[in-house]
Parts: sequence; C-alpha cells; structure tokens
Amino acid sequence: MTGLGTGYVALFCLFFFAASCYLSLIIFVKKRGPPMTNFFQDPEFTQLLDEQLQRQVDVPWPEEAECLQGHGMQAACRVLDVGTGNGYFLCRLAKQYPDKLFVGIDQSEQLIQAAEKWKQRLGVCNVEFMTCHCPNLEMSDLFDFAFARFCIYCAPNRRDVLSWALGRLKPGARFCVIDVDVDADYTDPPEPAWSDMIDAGRRAMLSGGSDRTIGKKLPALLYRAGFVDIRLEQRFWYSSFARTRAEFVGYWRSTGVIMRRLFADIYTQEMCDAFLAFMDRFEKGVDTVITNPIHVISGKKQV
Ligand SMILES: C[S@@+](CC[C@H](N)C(=O)[O-])C[C@H]1O[C@@H](n2cnc3c(N)ncnc32)[C@H](O)[C@@H]1O
Repeated sequence: MTGLGTGYVALFCLFFFAASCYLSLIIFVKKRGPPMTNFFQDPEFTQLLDEQLQRQVDVPWPEEAECLQGHGMQAACRVLDVGTGNGYFLCRLAKQYPDKLFVGIDQSEQLIQAAEKWKQRLGVCNVEFMTCHCPNLEMSDLFDFAFARFCIYCAPNRRDVLSWALGRLKPGARFCVIDVDVDADYTDPPEPAWSDMIDAGRRAMLSGGSDRTIGKKLPALLYRAGFVDIRLEQRFWYSSFARTRAEFVGYWRSTGVIMRRLFADIYTQEMCDAFLAFMDRFEKGVDTVITNPIHVISGKKQV
C-alpha cells in the first residue's frame, strides 16, 4: 500500500471511530434523559412543577411541618430553605409559624417568580425569596435553622451545597434534609406497573448528577460536610397505609401523568396506561401495600 493509501485508511478509521463515539453519546444521553438542570430553565416544566409541588405539600400537610419542628425548627427565629422551588411549602410554613422569618433561595428565576406569586396568594409577609445558586459565596446571613426539601437529590454539587449550608448556620443550629430513596420503595405483593413508574423516574433523572437513591447516603454526606449529632428517620406520608385511598390515588395518579409528559422517551404511554389502570384497581380496593419512604436527616453545627 502506498503512503497515500495508508493515510486514507487511517483517516477513514479515525472518522469511523469519531462517528461511533458520537452515536454512543447520543444513545447514552437519550437513554438517561436530558440533564435535570435544563428542566428548571424550561417554562413548561416550571408550570407543571408548580402544580405538582403544590400537591406534594398539601398531601402530607401538616405532618411534614411538624417533623421539621422536631428536627430543630421549633426554637428558630430565622429559617433558610435551600432549593425552595415554587416556595409553596415555605409560604405554608410562614403562615403556620408567623413568629418566624423565612428565607427561600433557588437557582431558578421562574420558580422564584412562582414563589412570589404564592406569597401574594397566601398573604404572608414573614417570608423572602431570592434567586441564588448554591453555594453562593456572597450570602453572609446566619440562620437558626435551615432545611432542603427534595433539593439535594437533584443538586449535582451536593457536597458543596451541604458545606455551604453548614456555613450559613449559627453554632448549635440544625440543618435538615427531606429527600427520597427509591431503593427503599416497596410494594406487597410486587406490582410491576408501580415499580416501572418508580424506575422510570430514577432513570429519567439520572443525568446531570441527580440521584434518587440519595436518602441512605445523606448521613455520611452530612457527616463529611462537618455536621455533628446526626439524626435520621423515615416517614411514610406518600405511602398507601398513611393516606386514604382517594388521597393516595389522587396524588400518585397526577405523578404518573406528569411523568409521562416530562419523560416521554423513558416513561412510555404503555407504562403510563398500566400505572393508571393500577391506580383504578387500587381505588376500587385491590389489596396492595405501597411503601414509599421519605428520609429525614438532620445534623447540628458544632457549638
Ligand atoms: C424538586 S425541587 C423541590 C422544590 C421545593 N424544595 C419543594 O419541596 O417543593 C428542587 C429544587 O432545588 C433547586 N436547586 C437544586 N440545586 C440547587 C442549587 N445548587 N442552588 C439553588 N437551588 C438548587 C432546583 O432549582 C429546584 O427548584
């Protein structure tokens, strides 16, 4: 083979290699879904999220608020909510505890706008919202209590966020994380329509550093960030045995529908139909127990 011929073969191999890498990357990204951070810039997603976040708060209210009280909020005057989203949870807290001042921060400008609307709609004045990506080194305020509700699982820089949260606390104050762990989700007897939905959620949010199995990892993450006196509990407010059938089905049916709209590539129409059919069967009284634990972990800043 001439030198020129060898050159062409090498060029062809190089081209073939680059094309395969590109194709694999596309398949990989498609399989895992778009990065989570992109969702929070998308107005349609923000609108859907606003509705779903409201349901997610109303279903267990006020158990969750009382749970935060038990993890260190009770004695606090100034409370920080990291990744406040649409601020609905924080506005309800502000209404429930008018003697405290609440500050909610989120990286998404659209969600902070939604939070300002909730503040007006619920008529609360002891709450402030700020667009802010954590860790934010300009923020120097100190708080008596801070929490992050369903934020750490979708924060790829979660170690930095936790260290930063520690720095935002007064000595002796606590930080509480409320988050998911889909590995702990369990149905008795096994229900494929349910586990397909949970698994699709896990896969859809994998990329961009989201981790829907974060619950079990949080004690170690808090410890490594420098927190002491770490307390952990599981709560079951989205589980079938903690709700009436109507409440349970209302919440999860809308979760299935929103999943289908958001993650159409991963959560197929067939899966969604099977899930909704299961919800119908469940509403009519099928004997299935669904355990969907929520992890609540808090740690203290050393005095
Ligand atoms: C699933 S939402 C939960 C919203 C709210 N905490 C609730 O429980 O309704 C997670 C929120 O965390 C925010 N978030 C994630 N990482 C963040 C970061 N590093 N800084 C600020 N906000 C962040 C996202 O923008 C999103 O609004």
